[in-house]
Amino acid sequence: MKITIIGSGYVGLVTGACFADLGNTVICADNDEKKIDMLGRGEIPIYEPGLEELVKKNKAKGRLVFTTDVKKATRDSTVIFVCVGTPPREDGSADLTGIEKVSRTVAESMDAYKLIVEKSTVPVETGEWVKDTINRFKTNDCDFDVASNPEFLREGSAIKDFMNPDRVVIGVESEKAGEILKALYEPLNTKIVVTSIKGAEIIKHASNSFLATKISFINAVSNICEKVGADVTSVAEGIGLDRRINTHFLKAGIGFGGSCFPKDLKAFIHISEKLGYKFDLLKEVDRINEMQKDLLMEKIARLVWNIRDKEIAVWGLAFKPDTDDIRSAPAIDVIRRLVKEGARIRVFDPAAMERSMEELKVEGIKWCKDIYETSDGADCVILMTEWNEFKEVDWDKLKKILRQPVIIDGRNLYDPGKLKAMGFRYAGIGRN
Ligand code: UGA
Repeated sequence: MKITIIGSGYVGLVTGACFADLGNTVICADNDEKKIDMLGRGEIPIYEPGLEELVKKNKAKGRLVFTTDVKKATRDSTVIFVCVGTPPREDGSADLTGIEKVSRTVAESMDAYKLIVEKSTVPVETGEWVKDTINRFKTNDCDFDVASNPEFLREGSAIKDFMNPDRVVIGVESEKAGEILKALYEPLNTKIVVTSIKGAEIIKHASNSFLATKISFINAVSNICEKVGADVTSVAEGIGLDRRINTHFLKAGIGFGGSCFPKDLKAFIHISEKLGYKFDLLKEVDRINEMQKDLLMEKIARLVWNIRDKEIAVWGLAFKPDTDDIRSAPAIDVIRRLVKEGARIRVFDPAAMERSMEELKVEGIKWCKDIYETSDGADCVILMTEWNEFKEVDWDKLKKILRQPVIIDGRNLYDPGKLKAMGFRYAGIGRN
C-alpha cells in the first residue's frame, strides 16, 4: 500500500519505517524543514535502537521518503496516518491544535477517497472533531473515513513492539476503513481488536492509565514494606505470579516519567471530568507518583543529614533505560530540588547528557564521563535510571572514592545485603 504519515516525531517515524519495512511505500511528511533535511540525509533526530538502520535500509530501497509538502503527500496516498504531537496544556488537557491543523490541510488537499487514521494519543471524541473539520473545510466533494489506531510502542523497544504487538486496535465506522487497516496489519499476524472510533480512543488512555495505576499501586505498597522491613521486590513477585495480575509494571521505584504516562493520565482525568465523571482513582495514582520524589528527598536527608553543600552523585537521567528522553524524568525534577537545597551535583547518563544540559541550565552541576567520575568525593550516590551498564559496579573501587559510602537505589537494582556487608549505607524503594 501507499501510506502517508503526517508528523515525523517518535511515533510517526517508527510507524513509517516499520510500515515501509513490511513492504509498503511510505511518505513521511512534516512541516519542520530542519527535521526533514536531517532525515533525508539518513540522520535520526531521536535515540531508538535499530531505527537508524531501518530508516536507511528502506530509504535505500525507495520505500521511505521524506517531505515537507504535506498537501502533496496527502494527495499521493489513500491512507493518511496522523502522528502529530498532542502536548499537555496547563490544566492537564491535551492540546489538539496540531490535529486540527492537519485535519484542515487534509480537507483542503484531498482529491479522492482518503482514510484518515488517528495514531496520536487523543481524548475520546477527537475523531468526531476530525470528521466535522474535514466536512467543513473540504474543497472537493470526495468521500473519506476517519479511524483510530492507537500505538502501544514503548521507547527503547519501539520497533520490536511495532512488529510483535500483543494486539492491534482499530476503531472504525465503515467496512471499507476496517478492511484497509486489517490488510495493512495482516503481515504482523496478530489479534486485531475492531471497535468504534470512540472505543479505540478510550482503549489508549485506559491502557496507559491502567499501567500507571499498577506502578503507583506497587509504589504505595512499597511504603508499607519500608515501614515494617519487608522487601517489596519479593512482595511484587508474590503478587505478580498470579496470572490474573502478572509481574509486568510492578517494579517499585522513584515513579513513572516519560512523554506518555504522566501526560495521558492527566488527559484522561481531564476528559472524564469534562464528560461528568470524577476519576478520583487516577488522581490518586498521579499523587502517589509525585510523592515518590518527596520520599526520595526524605531518604537523602535521612542518610546524609543536611543536603546543603553535599556532593551528590546522580547515576542516570533518562526516564528509563535505552532512551535519551528526559521528558517528565524523575531525575531531572530531583536534581532541580537538590540544587535548590544547596547540593552540588555530579551526574552521568549513557545517552541523555546532551538533552539534560539543554534542559538543566543551572549552576552547581558537573557533567561526568562515567559513574566513577560522578562518585569521586561524593557524599551519596543516587541511582535514578536502571541502565544495563550500571548493573556491574566495582564496589571496592567505589567505596574508596566516595567520601561517604551511601547508596540510594531508586530502582532496586542492587543487592542490599551485599552492599551492607561491604559497609555501605543502603536505601532502596520499599526495602531497607
Ligand atoms: C508507555 C507504554 O508502555 C506504551 O505501551 C505506550 O505506547 C507509550 O507509553 C505511549 O503512550 O506512547 P513508554 O512511556 O515508552 O511507554 O515507557 P514504559 O516502558 O511504559 O515506562 C514508563 C515509565 O514507567 C518509566 O519511567 C518507567 O521507569 C516506569 N516504570 C515502568 C516503573 O516505574 N515500574 C515498572 O514496573 C514499569
